[in-house]
Amino acid sequence: MQNLDSEVAFASKYISQVAKLVEEKFEEHLPPLQDAPQKLHEAMRYSMFAGGKRLRPVLAYASFELFNGKDDSIWCATSALEMLHTFSLIHDDLPSIDNDDFRRGKKTAHIKFGEATAILAGDALCILAFELIAKTGNVKVIQTLARALGTYGMIGGEITDVEYEGKEANLEIVNYIHYHKTAALIEASLVVGAQLAKASEQDIQAIQEFGKAIGLAFQIVDDILDIVSVTEVLGKDAGSDVERGKATYPAVIGLEASKIKARELYDEAISILEKIPYDTTLFKSIAAYIITRVN
Ligand code: IPE
Ligand code: IPE
Ligand code: MG
Ligand code: MG
Ligand code: MG
Repeated sequence: MQNLDSEVAFASKYISQVAKLVEEKFEEHLPPLQDAPQKLHEAMRYSMFAGGKRLRPVLAYASFELFNGKDDSIWCATSALEMLHTFSLIHDDLPSIDNDDFRRGKKTAHIKFGEATAILAGDALCILAFELIAKTGNVKVIQTLARALGTYGMIGGEITDVEYEGKEANLEIVNYIHYHKTAALIEASLVVGAQLAKASEQDIQAIQEFGKAIGLAFQIVDDILDIVSVTEVLGKDAGSDVERGKATYPAVIGLEASKIKARELYDEAISILEKIPYDTTLFKSIAAYIITRVN
């Protein structure tokens, strides 16, 4: 297997640099702590500032840059994407869904603030994200995100994930779950960046296909890490999937075959990039980062 170290180093550097810029905007876009309802605002800020790779906003920014986007609208989108992702994590961790106690190296929102506050903080982040994205004035972007998060996207994946807990799943089902609960938002992040940059329909379609491949790879790696890694490195409860009998790639095809599948998706993602008539070196590196990441 080809060594991906230099690719990964390039992507890691870009991700941490852009993540910093993304985080600088959060203060401007989140409700201040002193505003009522204070407990809710504290919970929203707690989960948003807990850390995390900021991958979705970074992908949106990278796509915006790739297609020569120039204005400041991207910063509303990057904050909105991280709010939407954080909302999905807060709800995913709830006792009635995955029942996890750790997230981003800290107590989950419901452990820290109680379940009612966690549910409402998630709701509030989701709604605030749409208020922010509406500021771009770009209706297509609003539609992309609504679609990626709703019943045909993340929420559709989450409900199916819950329904299959403790049941035997096959590849078709696990693909449905993973494409919806995870790949949909990753894909949408790239599409939103491209839409804001006014990329052509052909380019948007190509970056979306790339997102679908790396999005599935991302969740397969997440499944693998749940087995092979530890809580301290992941910043979230390791072994949680096995404990809850989740429909994961390793559960359906085994650990080694899952690693091979992630690598195949990387190759697929790289070949999709050939359709884009710009310099996609960074995206190649991001794909390498996604399949080799340790948290
Ligand atoms: C975790 O996402 C949830 C999944 C879709 C697997 P990330 O691994 O991107 O979590 P953070 O944002 O870095 O905490
Ligand atoms: C979650 O998948 C995807 C979301 C929509 C949040 P997981 O349940 O595998 O994510 P982790 O492992 O808790 O981060
Ligand atoms: Mg889950
Ligand atoms: Mg979970
Ligand atoms: Mg997981």
